[in-house]
Amino acid sequence: MSDVSEMRQKLVSAATKIMDGKGTLSLPSEMAGYLVDWRRRYRGEALAVMLPTSVEQVSELIKLGRSLGIAIVPQAGNTGMTGGAVPINNRPSMILNVSKLNRVRDIDSQNNSVIVEAGCILATLRESLEPADKLFPMLLGSVGSCQIGGLVSTNAGGINVLRYGNMRELVLGLEVVLPNGKIWNGLKVLRKDNSGYDLKQLFIGAEGTLGVVTAAALKLFPKPTNTGTAMVALPSMQSAVDLLRVFADGAAGKVEAFEIISKGQLENVLLYHKELPPMPLSSPWYVMIELADSSINWDPNQVFEQILTSSIERGLIHDAVIASDSKKAERLWRLRHTISEANMRKGFSVANDTSVPISKIAVFIEQVDQRLKQEFKAADVYYAGHVGDGNIHVIIVFDRGLYDTDEKRETAAARANFIVHEASVELDGSISAEHGVGLMHIEELERFKSDVDLEMMAQIKRAFDPDNIMNPGKVLAAARVVAARKMAI
Ligand code: MLT
Ligand code: ZN
Repeated sequence: MSDVSEMRQKLVSAATKIMDGKGTLSLPSEMAGYLVDWRRRYRGEALAVMLPTSVEQVSELIKLGRSLGIAIVPQAGNTGMTGGAVPINNRPSMILNVSKLNRVRDIDSQNNSVIVEAGCILATLRESLEPADKLFPMLLGSVGSCQIGGLVSTNAGGINVLRYGNMRELVLGLEVVLPNGKIWNGLKVLRKDNSGYDLKQLFIGAEGTLGVVTAAALKLFPKPTNTGTAMVALPSMQSAVDLLRVFADGAAGKVEAFEIISKGQLENVLLYHKELPPMPLSSPWYVMIELADSSINWDPNQVFEQILTSSIERGLIHDAVIASDSKKAERLWRLRHTISEANMRKGFSVANDTSVPISKIAVFIEQVDQRLKQEFKAADVYYAGHVGDGNIHVIIVFDRGLYDTDEKRETAAARANFIVHEASVELDGSISAEHGVGLMHIEELERFKSDVDLEMMAQIKRAFDPDNIMNPGKVLAAARVVAARKMAI
């Protein structure tokens, strides 16, 4: 028997005992869907996939992994954009998938908080809050399949960050199983707590490299009763930034989302849905705006009429449509939320995730566009993203006929990423705003972050996981983690 099959047998027989005979997958056909990211760009191998049903089982499985020298790859909905939930191939690994830990444990309406397990799907959580008229405001394209644990671990953003913040601002507390198997109950639902270091923040955005998030205490908000949606055509990216300011002043605190889409991107998503455009596509840029509030006598469409009419008169925007009912609004938002699928259908799509200060968005786009079009004459360059937080996704779609090998595709992707990252960092931006580092950006992180940044990160990793068993090869290069053992900060 080979070493691998011997190790798998040991793991499966011990895990079967821990999980009462259920939830251990080790046949290739059972494991296949867990071993590849949803974009099918990263594929790994694992000895087994574990589907625990309790926090105690997660703890026992981690201890088992430690004792056998098997790396643990935490996984939730597996909808990530950077390969963070897929095993690397140079370490024997098990995937620890939290999908079966999916209960909404407690809704506290007065405290505006909910405690929910890591495997709960975002849409399920949002629906479960409807009877209480509460909103958990995180919203992104994968709402129907992404899970709370993944959202916490990647510090997800999405379209409503402008008003409510990203996961870092929405999490009140966490329950985490540490790399040594200890269960940390940090499920506090407090708005104020200065009793020492804010430990939960270490696990938010850590991509499962410091422990397995098993539950989260999250902030809730009153569900707005009046919402309105509009799509606006604009002459330039700068006019979108200026229009955001007009809305921030004229509808203060009520701008739920302000999303930009370039003309080419909109055309591609319309093609994917075989739909006619909501307005003539004669401008280079489009924004989708959502206004929402619960004040009596407040009408979002009236606010839209006022602001948009005066903006057309001033020449700030070209044209606008206001959705007359919720069905039309849904149709508009469906276009925004299916951009990634449409781009995957078109070709080999490389979606960047940089952010820059809002005041520098226009110059960033100008520079990136020039550099990318010079380098990749045959590729399509699209833009879509979140104007309110400076996070515009630069998406380069390569023709699969021209880029017909893994090597050609990966070389082009690395070069495209480098161009976009360099432009962003030159303008005081970040190479990853909301998707995380995963496998995709390890080398770029080494290139663009300072040594002091990387050393501090490696020391934190060392403090939690000195043997590097928790999601190795993600966020920090293995060599960094090894080096950290030899030095103090
Ligand atoms: C989005 O804003 O659409 C998401 O972050 C996904 C993507 O970048 O493709
Ligand atoms: Zn995004």
